[in-house]
Amino acid sequence: MKFKQKEVEKIYKKLGKDLKSKTASELKTEYLGKKGAISALLQKIGSKEPKDRAIFGKEVNILKTYFEEELTKAKLATRETLGSSARIDPTAPFDVNTPEENRPKLLTADSGSVHPLMRSLEEFVDIFSRMGFDIMESRQLDDDYHMFESLNFPKGHPARDMYDTFRTEENLIPPAHTSTMQNRALKTFGPPPVRVVLPGFCYRNEATDASHEHTFFQIEGIYVDRGISVGDMIGTIKSYLEAFLDTTLDIKIQPAFFPFTEPDVEFTISCPFCQKAGCSVCGHSGWIELMGCGMIHPNVLKEAGINHKEFGGFAWGFGLDRITMIKHGIEDIRNLHGGDLNFLRQFS
Ligand code: FA5
Repeated sequence: MKFKQKEVEKIYKKLGKDLKSKTASELKTEYLGKKGAISALLQKIGSKEPKDRAIFGKEVNILKTYFEEELTKAKLATRETLGSSARIDPTAPFDVNTPEENRPKLLTADSGSVHPLMRSLEEFVDIFSRMGFDIMESRQLDDDYHMFESLNFPKGHPARDMYDTFRTEENLIPPAHTSTMQNRALKTFGPPPVRVVLPGFCYRNEATDASHEHTFFQIEGIYVDRGISVGDMIGTIKSYLEAFLDTTLDIKIQPAFFPFTEPDVEFTISCPFCQKAGCSVCGHSGWIELMGCGMIHPNVLKEAGINHKEFGGFAWGFGLDRITMIKHGIEDIRNLHGGDLNFLRQFS
């Protein structure tokens, strides 16, 4: 392209250089912003001598159209490099605009990679953050009060047996579930509304098999506010599971028993692999039992200093290992903690 008007040709040449080095937003400001180079040319059209005005105006508008086309291409190229929903990692050791081929190679055959469980955890943290939940990590050692009393397990109550597994000599407890965090979270994030998710390791005295580990990961969730119903609980749990498994699910709920919720429910989803037809992942039943949940017991709210007549809510606790197995079709939970590199490299 060549322009007869010197001023237009000058800006066109400068643009040629800037298109190679500047981002779409910088270009837009520098050429079509308030003080932009093309904006200035457009303003000049009116002040030109009548004999020059037509040709000057025509060339400025050709340049403007050319610029807008190039700007659209630059925007599309950036989107392709980043991916439309790409997230920016501010800790990355390179600028976000660095093309793929010039970025440092972070992964080689010998370097480590994110463990599939931690990748699932990151995905859940992302989903829950977008849903407006706070995140607080659970503890790896807790005490009798948080494990039992704060959760409405009176001393000597037989329900304690289900969770009374390991203790240290100092009478501390490696928690059997993340519900140990409920009282702490209600006090920390209260008064309501409280929306918090509590991920952490759990320890149980289990004879291990393909779906049971002695050490596994749970994600607890609590939602307390005015006027919360079982419908809110079902809708919330269904939404985050569908986001994580990237599919729509049918759900079933059936009665269960937990001293810290009333009513208590076992939450079951349709198998995302066979859509209820029956396959090896769901044991040919078409359904997968995924977690315990329920409406938080008034005694648990009272113990955390929350007026149970004014506020109510729900809680859930699900196994991250089990849902990671479902997502990736992993047959044996013991693979997740076995440290076998051949297994782990499948997820790098
Ligand atoms: C509980 O642990 C309750 N705290 C859940 C809860 C929280 C109910 C809040 C109500 C309100 P349960 O023992 O069923 O419930 O365990 C919950 C989930 O943890 C299970 O559905 C499963 O996904 C996972 N899980 C339990 N035991 C194991 C294990 N040995 N290995 C792997 N995952 C397990």
